[in-house]
Amino acid sequence: MRSRILGTGAYVPDRILTNADLEKMVDTSDSWIIERTGIRERRIVGQDQACSDLAMKAAEKALAKAGVLASQLDLIIVGTCTGDSPLPSTACLVQQKIGATRAAAFDLNAACCGFVYSLALADAYVKTGLQYVLVIGAEVMSSIIDWTDRNTCVLFGDGAGAVVVGKAEGDDGILSIHLHGDGEHSELIQVPGGGSRFPASEQTLNDKLQFVQMKGNETFKVAVKTMEEAVREVLTFNGHSIEDVDVFVPHQANIRILKAVAQRLKFPLEKTVINLDRLGNTSAASIPLALDEAVASGRIRCGDYVLLAAFGAGLTWASSLIRW
Ligand code: UT7
Repeated sequence: MRSRILGTGAYVPDRILTNADLEKMVDTSDSWIIERTGIRERRIVGQDQACSDLAMKAAEKALAKAGVLASQLDLIIVGTCTGDSPLPSTACLVQQKIGATRAAAFDLNAACCGFVYSLALADAYVKTGLQYVLVIGAEVMSSIIDWTDRNTCVLFGDGAGAVVVGKAEGDDGILSIHLHGDGEHSELIQVPGGGSRFPASEQTLNDKLQFVQMKGNETFKVAVKTMEEAVREVLTFNGHSIEDVDVFVPHQANIRILKAVAQRLKFPLEKTVINLDRLGNTSAASIPLALDEAVASGRIRCGDYVLLAAFGAGLTWASSLIRW
């Protein structure tokens, strides 16, 4: 028995922050950002928007596409590292907003792997008896960015993507999902403050510990290596080769990472879905946003082999192969 994605949905805030806007904020240039990252613009939440607001909008679209009512949901999982607040979970806020009266709800933090990790849980829960699970990747990365740090502020954006997972009928569906973690490299990408190690205080705010810190160059190398490994693992597990893959939907951090991975796998970049040029790195939202775009545009069709691969803070990395 397998689970499958019954419907996808996405939402990004209206406000666009271009590279030209960033040129006025920090010592950077449009050409540097495009050349080093592939990013041209990103979306940023309005003042009255938080993570659950984006998540709710993506969720409602996914439910409509799946033909499932919110009241039919058994479980809601929100993959995020930028929830509305530490307590309660953003998933509970979404549960209330969409009226999913019978659904259990919790958040999952696996940073940029949050969506694939959450999808793995949904897959397992459906296989063990739940009927409908809503999986959302939603982030307000702008809330943890130091807008004076050019090393990070040019990279990230806000958005949400969602899928409804239910039982598969035939041979289609989620073929497998593979998850990995390694705390050995936890210092590569971190938000050190605001948790139990350094609770928020005047000192932590002065030290800017509430913002993302990243060792970009080292992260880049690990990202290429882990993404390649994750792809090879899921293909080998399912007895497929890279030529069998119709559409690759990777986590969107940097176009140079995607090109390097494609080159190592000898996979044509044209079969890779890319949204980072318009949305930047939206962390856990990047894969479901790209997935929804590919489905909506007809790029992913029934019977296609769709490959997902992600990496992120933790470190975490993950992959999945889906027969659509
Ligand atoms: O999803 C979460 C995972 N995160 C990632 O995957 C990020 C992975 N890393 C990257 O994407 C890249 O490492 C970055 C885009 C962050 C940086 O690109 P890079 O080619 O690795 O640049 P670098 O860190 O080696 O820096 C090169 C130079 C430095 O100047 P010096 O020291 O050579 O004088 C930086 O200070 O570029 C400078 N620099 C900038 N210049 C203009 C760094 N950021 C900027 C900027 N504008 N925004």
